[in-house]
Amino acid sequence: MPKSKSLFEAAKKVIPSGVNSPVRYFEPYPFFVKKAAGSKIWDEDGNKYIDYCTGYGAMLLGHRHPRIISSVKKQLTIGTLYGAPTSSEVELATLINRAYPSMQKIRLVNTGSEATMTAIRLARGFTKKKKIIKFEGSYHGAHESLLVRAGSGSAGIAVSEGVPNDFIKNTIVIEYNNSEQLEKVITKNDDIAGIIVEPVLGNMGLILPEKNFLYDMRKMTRKAGITLIFDEIITGFRMGLGGAQAHFGIKPDMTTLGKSLSNGFVISAVGGNREIMDQLAPGGKVYEASTFAGNPVSVAAGIASLQTMSSLKNKIYPKIAKQCLTLAKSIHESATKYGIPHQVNAIESMFQIFFTDKPVVDYASSKRADGKKFHRMFHNLLKQGVFVAPSQFETGFFSYAHSNSDLENTIQAYDNALRKIKQ
Ligand SMILES: Cc1ncc(COP(=O)(O)O)c(C=O)c1O
Repeated sequence: MPKSKSLFEAAKKVIPSGVNSPVRYFEPYPFFVKKAAGSKIWDEDGNKYIDYCTGYGAMLLGHRHPRIISSVKKQLTIGTLYGAPTSSEVELATLINRAYPSMQKIRLVNTGSEATMTAIRLARGFTKKKKIIKFEGSYHGAHESLLVRAGSGSAGIAVSEGVPNDFIKNTIVIEYNNSEQLEKVITKNDDIAGIIVEPVLGNMGLILPEKNFLYDMRKMTRKAGITLIFDEIITGFRMGLGGAQAHFGIKPDMTTLGKSLSNGFVISAVGGNREIMDQLAPGGKVYEASTFAGNPVSVAAGIASLQTMSSLKNKIYPKIAKQCLTLAKSIHESATKYGIPHQVNAIESMFQIFFTDKPVVDYASSKRADGKKFHRMFHNLLKQGVFVAPSQFETGFFSYAHSNSDLENTIQAYDNALRKIKQ
């Protein structure tokens, strides 16, 4: 990839490590993207890939979905930022509320990090308590309270440098899928403002909640008056239109959404119980603000996304879940055929393989998987024109644009890559 290589050399001179988000880097250098359409992405050297990174899960409808592009184009002709409210913001919040009834009131923000940061501040402001519980390996964005034993690009880093202990002394980290530990911490502590959880953990590879984990959590938080925050930045609109909360039938007090909310534009949302959300300024005393919040271009993309996902929901979700299950089964069969110890975790349109013989249910079991094998598999897939996120601690995602021939090619590519790993 000579063009990507020289672009990376140029990038390193002006961008730290040559990338604008650490997860985009991989050895020896990442490919630089020229364009994308549907289920495909092309690099600067003219290579084409079937894309399972899908903007880290954001492109549920695929790249350049015509309805979204046309809605955004229309908005571009009438303005890109006003600094005053628009009817479109009301329309989008109403559409979100329809799909997520637990989000009685919604504030639009830009990134997922901003959404979770606001949710934490609201939980503290509402309960007048200080402590926050998060789970080991979950990633909720790159901000102080939650960048502790997190997953994704920061997996393995206990606390980022530059985050003083003063910031994190109120963050309690618990093992994912460990209801007993959660109960003990809640019983011992009367200063807990909130729990933030990825209902399906997508930042440590893919880890599913065990049978009663989320239900136990809901029961315990309700009893103790602790705010339960579902971080559905990944699972929102992906585990079905109503996200993980509809899938599992659990009503959190607050929810954060991002990624598939707009299928590739910069917008996220935080919402929840009316009483909690009304704590936000200017009506309430919890401050949160942004110049770009609810910006008209992203809102136009959000409305078109929601209308599309909602009108096609009976087609989209069964199709991508079926394709994902087929791929997950085939990966498992190939790895078994070649005698490679492995686990495949999958749910709805999300999947990941781990090279370990023990089930992957939390941070520790995910960390035990063989990352070197994953790296070899990643490069082999890339050579065959299949792009998955470069790290073991990420998840693979189907989009509605993936065709059955994409699926067949991917099944073959994984089989070849796993055969090579065996050799
Ligand atoms: C579950 C979850 N929450 C929050 C975030 C942060 O979102 P953003 O990268 O838009 O700040 C991410 C990002 O990957 C995420 O996966």
